[in-house]
Amino acid sequence: MPVGTLANVKTVTPDQLQGTGAQMILANTYHLHLQPGEGIVERAGGLHRFMGWSGPILTDSGGFQVFSLSDMRSIEESGVSFRSPRDGQVIHLSPERAIAIQNALGADVIMAFDECAPYPASREAIENAADRTTRWLERCIKAHERADQALFGIVQGGTYLDLRQKSARSLVEFDLPGYAIGGVSVGEPPELIEKIVQATTPLLPKDKPRYLMGVGTYREMAQAIAAGIDLFDCVIPTRLARHGNALVRGERWNLKNNRFRKDFTPLDSDCPCYACQTFTRAYLSHLLRSRELLAYTLLSIHNITELVGFTQKIRQAIIQGTFAQDFRNWLQPAK
Ligand code: GUN
Ligand code: ZN
Repeated sequence: MPVGTLANVKTVTPDQLQGTGAQMILANTYHLHLQPGEGIVERAGGLHRFMGWSGPILTDSGGFQVFSLSDMRSIEESGVSFRSPRDGQVIHLSPERAIAIQNALGADVIMAFDECAPYPASREAIENAADRTTRWLERCIKAHERADQALFGIVQGGTYLDLRQKSARSLVEFDLPGYAIGGVSVGEPPELIEKIVQATTPLLPKDKPRYLMGVGTYREMAQAIAAGIDLFDCVIPTRLARHGNALVRGERWNLKNNRFRKDFTPLDSDCPCYACQTFTRAYLSHLLRSRELLAYTLLSIHNITELVGFTQKIRQAIIQGTFAQDFRNWLQPAK
């Protein structure tokens, strides 16, 4: 899922996004609550109509963003209080509130309100956050009012594999339509991500979507898919684009680099995207050096096509039985 935090995937239109092969996108409860407010989105007829995207949408619940983006006031059993970075006003989010906001936004998949312990934290703090996440899930389920929206639970437990498994087992009891693994890529050593995913994913029902939150490098995705993960969200393709970077066959190129100034070949001659089919590296380099906004649109189109394409190729390889062989370089630890 490309990330469309504020009801848009930055710099690309829904038409362009559809052309990349992306199916589902992610938007954020926290940001949309602050601006423009879920009331406006609801009056527009829900997120799909508001932003002109008819494909599936998932909203994250807001808890994680509160912890990482705002001036925290307190975390209690009832919920969290924080200061709005917009106007300093104190806002309270709770399982009930996060679900009510997501019911109003109207995404197809909504996420439980969870507590993600920071990294590093004591084992006790991580266990408490994971246990609270389970208690909050029960409140989310009670508060959820729309049968047309699927509510996913979120596994926590940090880098402690036994806590991950306890969390996963307690969530599965609720027989939800899908499950996510949260609390990864928060500063822990990268090789632990694979260990966490390998220990947790098999405990989640394999006939339901299994979603690894906030992950999306080639290697992390390949390894997680090998462990059974189906769904990812990541800002990498669009964020890299805004910094002038292109993902090309597993590498990261900065198009502002001198070597591209007089390079009249396509970015990637094998890529089906609009940018690669139409323009040269020299042109992209020129746009970036001139800070022309079109540069970010073209690089975003390419990067999303590239990463979605990577998962499409994996799907094909799985169907043909050649995944482990074809992707062995991505399935091993980075050299
Ligand atoms: N996005 C990335 N990690 C997380 C997490 O642990 N919880 C939530 N709600 N969103 C996330
Ligand atoms: Zn391309």
